[in-house]
Formats: sequence, structure tokens, C-alpha cells
Amino acid sequence: MAALILVAGGAGYIGSHTALALREAGFRTLCLDNFCAGHRQALLGGDCVEVDLMQPEPLAAVFKAHRIDAVVHFAAHCYVGESVQDPGRYYRNNVGGTLNLLQAMQRAGVSRIVFSSTCATYGQPDKVPIVETCAQLPINPYGNTKLVCEYMLRDFAVAHGLASVALRYFNAAGADPSGRLGEDHRPETHLIPLALAAAAGRRDPLKVFGNDYPTPDGTCIRDYIHVTDLATAHVLALQSLLAGASGFRALNLGNAAGTSVAEVVRVCGKVTGREVPHTIAARRPGDPPVLVGSTERIERELGWRPRYSDIETIVRTAWAWHQRHPDGYAN
Ligand code: UFG
Repeated sequence: MAALILVAGGAGYIGSHTALALREAGFRTLCLDNFCAGHRQALLGGDCVEVDLMQPEPLAAVFKAHRIDAVVHFAAHCYVGESVQDPGRYYRNNVGGTLNLLQAMQRAGVSRIVFSSTCATYGQPDKVPIVETCAQLPINPYGNTKLVCEYMLRDFAVAHGLASVALRYFNAAGADPSGRLGEDHRPETHLIPLALAAAAGRRDPLKVFGNDYPTPDGTCIRDYIHVTDLATAHVLALQSLLAGASGFRALNLGNAAGTSVAEVVRVCGKVTGREVPHTIAARRPGDPPVLVGSTERIERELGWRPRYSDIETIVRTAWAWHQRHPDGYAN
């Protein structure tokens, strides 16, 4: 029988795309979500248990009731700004929840996990593209919580033989190219959905956070990666664990290409055929000027290659979803 993968946070943006990719690759999936941010419609009818990682007993019961072969873990709060305002909420959920999950796995004898980490663990890097050996010096509580989780994975590998891959995401964007899934954060804070909603006249003009950065056009540069390419990387990481990879490994997951906010605004205008109404606003605290990741290691070690690497394709899939689902999963 196909391996059963527990997808913690499987009703969220990246989790739902990954659960779909896993099923398409022949795995069975069981999503686990507390639905504080996830959407039931994003499960696409797949199996799901409504459990919060902060509740150890129901969590243990899931591992008792199902023969789980491996875990892919996305369940976390992920707003940098909110993490600065309310770090306790982030440490409780992201660190406490991950600890509960690892302990439940250990007790149930489940020894493989793919973990959703972030480029935010690098903080303000000295040089780009960022390689995995760069210093990890996060500049916000969100990044701190993800780094602590990486430490836990390392320590559990030594103590309990847990095999793990931490994927350090750059900027996830876009939507399932066949239109089944998309991005629906509440509140939405990400650049591409906000720019598209502004172009569609569904939101206020986009605020471009700063045009005085030391970059060619003065706006921040980020490494946007299509969510389906991101999902594929999880499938490959999982397959490597199931094939016997051991210990802890961390891999960057981006596109190795930088795009500025001004370029994203221009591409959103081109794709929608409308001007993106926007104003220049103050810098957003905690935004590094440039974040671009080297993907040499993941390409070499997992054989991963992006399929939707160009920014216009990424934006086109996001726009197709936005047009069919102007209120996200609400319609
Ligand atoms: N931006 C704007 N206006 C907006 C929203 C964003 O100008 O209304 C700019 C930001 O300043 C940034 C870029 O667009 O330069 C991308 O911002 P996003 O909010 O879309 O994404 P972030 O780079 O802030 O966040 C992503 C992930 C986080 C992760 C972070 C690491 O979503 O989970 O990268 O830095 F922590």
C-alpha cells in the first residue's frame, strides 16, 4: 500500500498544494489542521483530522489511529509583523506545536519529517545569493521560532534518529496551474495578491514599502517561487527520506532569481491588462533590501528543478485564481 503522509497544516496555502502534489505522486495523505488559517475547501475532499498541535492527547490519538509513515509539517503562524507584536503567540504555536508534534512522532515510532522553514532564518544576509552555510541570524520572532525548530530537528536526529529535511522557503507565490487551489490569507499581506486585488479595484491602491533601498530601482528584491514548484520539492524531500536519508538537512527553496517590488507591480499590470494603482510608502520595518537564495544544493541533492520559474508565469497563475475566486475560498 502507498505510504501514508500526515500533512500538518494541510489546509493552508503551501500545505494544500503539497498535499495535492503528494497524492498526484501516489502517496496517501491525511491532513491535520486546526483551521485557524486553513480552508476546508482547500482539502479538495482529501482526508483530514481537525486537531491543534497544542493538544497533545488528540495528537497522540491521530498517531494511534493511523499507521503514518512520515510527516510534512506546515502548521505555523507566518506573519513577520504580527510576530513582532505578539512573540508569545509565535513561540507557543510554532515552537510549542512543533515540539508536541516531534514528541508524538517519537512515541509513535514515526521517524521522518519534512519541515517548512524559511529564508527569514538568515535575517539580513551579507551577500546574495544566500547559501545554506550562511549565518542564521533572524531579525524577527517569526524567523527565531523557525530557527529554534531547526535546532530541535538537529537534536532529535542525534538523540532519537529522527530523519528530517528543513526547506528554507523564499517567497511562495502563484496558484495551482490547473486552478484547483490558490492563495487566500486573512489578512492578506503579500505583495502579489495585494497588487492583483488593487488592479482589480477590489482593494485600496498598493503601498510600495520604500523606494530608497540600495537596489537598482530602489525597491526591495525578493526571490519568488511558484507554490507548485515548492510542493514538488516536498515530494522529492520526502522520497529521499523514505529511501533512507538520515540526519538533519537544510535546503534553500527559491528560484535563484531576484525580482524587485517595482518589477512585480509592472508584471501585475501587464498580466491583468490594467494599471496597478499604487503609492510609495515608508519602508516596512524588518524588510531586508535583497533576499535571493542559491538553489544549487537542492538541485544537486534532490534533483529538483523549477517548472514555473518566470515571474510572469507565476503572476498569471495567481491572476487566474484571483479572477475565478475574487473572495478566495469564500466563493
Ligand atoms: N510589499 C510592499 N507592499 C505590500 C506588501 C509587500 O511593498 O503591501 C513588499 C515588501 O516590502 C517586500 C516584498 O513586497 O519587499 C514582498 O513582501 P511579502 O509580504 O509578499 O513577502 P515577505 O518577503 O515579507 O515575506 C516572505 C514570507 C514570510 C517570510 C519572509 C522572509 O511570506 O513568511 O518572506 O523574509 F518570513
